[in-house]
Amino acid sequence: MNDIKKLISELTLEEKAGLTSGKDAWLTKAVERLGIGQSRTSDGPHGLRADDYSRPDHATMPAVCFPTAVTTAASFDRDMLYQLGEELGTECRAYGVDVLLGPGVNIKRSPLCGRNFEYFSEDPYLAGQLGAAFVNGVQSKGVGTSLKHFFANSQETRRFTSSSEIDERTIREIYLPAFENVVKKAQPWTIMASYNKINRTYATENKKFIDEVLRKEWGFEGLVVSDWGATHDRVAAIVAGTDLTMPATDSDHVIVEAVKNGTLPEEALDLCCERVLELVFKSEEHRDPNAKCDVEAAHQLARKFAANSLVLLKNDGKMLPLKKTDKVAFIGAFAEKPRLQGGGSSHIVETKITSALEAAKEAGIDVEYAPAYNRETGGTDDRLFAEALELAKTAEKVVLFIGLPDRMESEGGDRQHIRLPEAHDLLVRAVCALNPNTAVVLHNGSPVAMPWIDAPKAVLEAYLGGQAVGGAVVDILFGDVNPSGRLAESFPKKLEDNPSYLWYFGEGDTVTYNEGLFVGYRYYETKKLEPLFPFGFGLSYTDFEYSNLRLSRWEMSEDMTLGVSVDVKNVGEVKGKEVVQLYVAPVRGKVIRPAKELRDFAKIELEPGETKTVHFELSKRAFAYWSVEKKDWAVENGRYEIQIGRDSHNVALSHGIAIKPENELHHW
Ligand code: BGC
Repeated sequence: MNDIKKLISELTLEEKAGLTSGKDAWLTKAVERLGIGQSRTSDGPHGLRADDYSRPDHATMPAVCFPTAVTTAASFDRDMLYQLGEELGTECRAYGVDVLLGPGVNIKRSPLCGRNFEYFSEDPYLAGQLGAAFVNGVQSKGVGTSLKHFFANSQETRRFTSSSEIDERTIREIYLPAFENVVKKAQPWTIMASYNKINRTYATENKKFIDEVLRKEWGFEGLVVSDWGATHDRVAAIVAGTDLTMPATDSDHVIVEAVKNGTLPEEALDLCCERVLELVFKSEEHRDPNAKCDVEAAHQLARKFAANSLVLLKNDGKMLPLKKTDKVAFIGAFAEKPRLQGGGSSHIVETKITSALEAAKEAGIDVEYAPAYNRETGGTDDRLFAEALELAKTAEKVVLFIGLPDRMESEGGDRQHIRLPEAHDLLVRAVCALNPNTAVVLHNGSPVAMPWIDAPKAVLEAYLGGQAVGGAVVDILFGDVNPSGRLAESFPKKLEDNPSYLWYFGEGDTVTYNEGLFVGYRYYETKKLEPLFPFGFGLSYTDFEYSNLRLSRWEMSEDMTLGVSVDVKNVGEVKGKEVVQLYVAPVRGKVIRPAKELRDFAKIELEPGETKTVHFELSKRAFAYWSVEKKDWAVENGRYEIQIGRDSHNVALSHGIAIKPENELHHW
C-alpha cells in the first residue's frame, strides 16, 4: 500500500489543488512525477455510458441497457439488485471503468420529477435496501459506486440554484435514511453531492451533512464528489468535505490562493487529497486489463430482471396470460420499438433491442401489428388511427402498447402534468370500444393518469425496462413468467392528489417541502385518500393466502427486538412469487406520524399448494421517529400494529404490540 501521507508531503500546493478537481469529464488528475495515476468514472446507473478514449470524438461505447431504477425497484428483490450490481461491476471492469456513477436513491416527492425513472422509490426504506444491495453487488467486483444525489434533489426545475427547505424531522425520516442505510450496509466508494441547496446552503458546501452526519455520525469512509458542476465555491466545498470537484475546471488557482492567504487551512486540503489518493490506489489495485464481459448473456439477464419487475395492474376475467395460439394484434409503435430508458446523463447506447414484436416472432407466436401513432411525438393521424381500429375489430385479442414519448421524460426538466399524449388516451377508448378483449401495456418512467382505467381488461406496467423489455413483456403476456412486480410508488388518481402538488416547483429558488413527512403512501394512507394504485400493489397469475401471523412477544421495551412470522400459501394453479410487506402502524400518540410505514419486506417463490414461513426481525428503528428535541431517534410508548400488507392499503393480517418502559413489562 502506498504511503499516502508521505506522498501528500511531497506534493506541491498546485498539485494538491489539482487533485481536488477532474482532468476532464471523467478522470481524476495524475501526478506522474510521483507515480500517482488516475481514477476513471462513468455514468450509470442502469448501464454503462463510457467514453471511448481510443477515438478522437470520445464516442460513447455501446453497453447493455438494464431496466431503469423505477423498474428494478418494483422487483422488491434485494438479490436481483445485487446480481444487477455484479453484472454492472463486471462490465465496468471490462470497459476499464473504476467507479460507476450510481445508484440514485433520491425520494420521489412528486410524479413530475424528470429523473424519477433513475430513482427507486417514494419510500426511504425500500430505496435504502435496494440501493445497498446494488452497491454491494457492484463493489464485490472491485469497482466503486457513487451514491447520488446527496440529497433532497427532488426536481429538475432550477436544479442548479433551488434551495430545498425541509424541516429536520422530515430530513431525518424521509430524505436521509436511504443514504444512511447504503452507507452503513455497503460503504460506497464515493457519494455525489447534489446540485441543489439544502436549507440555503449548497449540498457541496454543506459541512453539517457531509462532515457531521455522513462522515462522523454514519461512519462514511469514502470520497465525496460534487455532481458535475455543482461546486460553486471551491474553498467552501473543501472545508465542508467535498473532496473532488467534477468535471475539469479552471478554478484550482482559487485554492492555491486561499491556502496562501490563510483562508483555507492546508490540512483541510490535505484531507481531501488523502481521500482522492485512496480512491486512485483502490481503483488501480482492482483493475484487470484482461477482464471481459459477455454482452449476450447480459442481455438475457436484462430480460430476466425486467420480467421479475414488471407490474400487472389489472387483469379482469383473467384475460392474461394469453394463449400462444390466440389471434392477437399488437397495436402501438412501442410494440415495434419500445421505450426502454430515459434521457440525460444515464442514457445508454444499447447493444441491441428486443421489441415485443420480435420476441413474439421468436417464440413462434403469430401477431398482427399496427403502429397507431408516431413513436417520437406520441401523436397520430387519420390513416394510422383508422388502420389501428380496423385491426382491433378483426383480432380476437388486442395488446395495446402506449406510454410517454422519450422527450417527455429526461434529466434537466420536469413534467408539467401526468397525462399521456391525447392520442394514446383516445386509442385506449376507441380500441376497447371495438374489442372488449384488450390489454394495455404501458411504457413510462413515472406515474401517469389513466382516465380510461375501466375500459381495458388488463393493464401491464412495463415502465422503462431496458433493452430486453420487449422480451419480458412477451414472457408475461403469454404466461412464461408469472408477474411479480409491485409498485415502488403510489399512482394518484390525479396529479392534484399528490401531497406536494401545491408547492412542488417552489417560488423562485425557494422550494418548501410543506407536506413534510407525508410523502407518497404516507399521505394517502393517513389522509384516507384512495390512489389509483397504491404503493406495493401488483397482481399475479396465482393467489396467495396469508395465515398464522405471530409475534415473538406481546409487549416489549424499545431496546428489545421483535420477531414476526407469517405463513404464505400459493393457493392457485401456477408457480408464483409474492412480495410480503411488513408495515408498522403506530396508534395515535402525542407525536404526529404517518398512519403506517414499510419496515421490512421479502420476496418469495411458491409452487402451487406450497406454504412458506417468512420471518422478520424488528428493532427500535422500526418504531422510532426523529426527536428534534433529543436530536436522536426516539420511540413513544404505546400500542403499535404490525401489519402484513398485500400492498400499502390492503392489510392481509395484523397484530398489536405494546411498547412499555422496561420496568413496566410483565415478567413471566
Ligand atoms: C448528473 C449526474 C451524472 C453527472 C455526470 C450530472 O448532470 O446529475 O447524475 O452522474 O452529470 O454525467
